[in-house]
Amino acid sequence: MTENILNIEGLKTYFFTEAGIVKAVDDISFNLKKNESLGLVGESGSGKTVTALSVLRIVPKPGKIIDGKVEFNGDDLLEKTEKEMQKMRGSEIAIIFQDPSSSLNPVYNVETQLRDVILAHQTVPKAETRKKVIELLEVVGIPEAETRMREYPHQFSGGMKQRVAIARALACEPTLLFADEPTTNLDVTIQAQVLNLLNDLKKKFNMSLVMITHDMGIIAEMTTRIVVLYAGRVCEIAKTHDLFERPRHPYTEALLAAVPRLDMKKTLRIIPGNIPNLIEPPSGCRFHPRCKHAKNTCKEKIPVLEEIEPEHFVACHEWQNISLKGERKH
Ligand SMILES: Nc1ncnc2c1ncn2[C@@H]1O[C@H](COP(=O)(O)OP(=O)(O)OP(=O)(O)O)[C@@H](O)[C@H]1O
Ligand code: SF4
Ligand SMILES: [Mg+2]
Repeated sequence: MTENILNIEGLKTYFFTEAGIVKAVDDISFNLKKNESLGLVGESGSGKTVTALSVLRIVPKPGKIIDGKVEFNGDDLLEKTEKEMQKMRGSEIAIIFQDPSSSLNPVYNVETQLRDVILAHQTVPKAETRKKVIELLEVVGIPEAETRMREYPHQFSGGMKQRVAIARALACEPTLLFADEPTTNLDVTIQAQVLNLLNDLKKKFNMSLVMITHDMGIIAEMTTRIVVLYAGRVCEIAKTHDLFERPRHPYTEALLAAVPRLDMKKTLRIIPGNIPNLIEPPSGCRFHPRCKHAKNTCKEKIPVLEEIEPEHFVACHEWQNISLKGERKH
């Protein structure tokens, strides 16, 4: 029926804090095609993690999804009961985080943890679960799986622990995987290995992947399409190649210019200005206080996301009047 595995429309997730209402995700729409690798990028605080948590319906208090649709294979997840969602998590949709410890329990050994996930979602004869755990650990590249499965999370190095967390996420063969900064805490070489592993597993298990990161280098390598978030809103969506070569939103241009390049003796350019306060975000276009192209309309009217070329969407009043600089992907 639909070729989209995920369809997010008008999603709003706010945090009702004592200081005021934090509009963390404020009317976000995008979709994910089956088997696609989509990047979700933006500076710290732009709403990447909260978007993922909203899809899984695990937004912590005082956060609340207040509006929108999250269609997964045509079914609105926001209409499901908590019990139905529990079934979805792990068996259909999984997430891995920057800190693998957050999805692993320090008290149980790896075998017990993976076995519990398998048994929670599948009817596998108990005797077969051990075989399945070993297989999973082998698939994520843990040597001597049979011995190591008896160890506890703290006995694994950072990279190995992330592999265990990935094995846990894969235990029920999800069709959609969110990877939220999965390699930020790892050394560069280990980082590359874990990214390669994710790419291989995506293919092997026919998964659709949402890769969350602020690292444009990782995004270039890992994704075919990108959603750029700024202060809880989408500012641009395009194929990875197009977005790098021809960004159409001033914020995307700034993000690309901030990428350190090995072939240029360029120091990291930080995007000038501060990330806005999401309790009282700037009026109109939220990027206007930092945008050198801003006009009066930008302060007054919220730009809508429009398709300016096939599969290239931008939310900027001035896109027709400005010429922006891209970066070559490699
Ligand atoms: N528990 C919470 N209580 C109040 N505000 C929150 C809470 N969790 C997130 N927020 C706010 O929601 C906004 C979006 O946060 P989110 O974690 O989604 O950002 P992010 O894009 O993932 O950033 P990072 O790159 O730092 O991970 C931020 O302004 C943050 O302060
Ligand atoms: S709408 Fe205006 S302020 Fe916002 S990015 Fe475009 S030009 Fe800049
Ligand atoms: Mg985050």
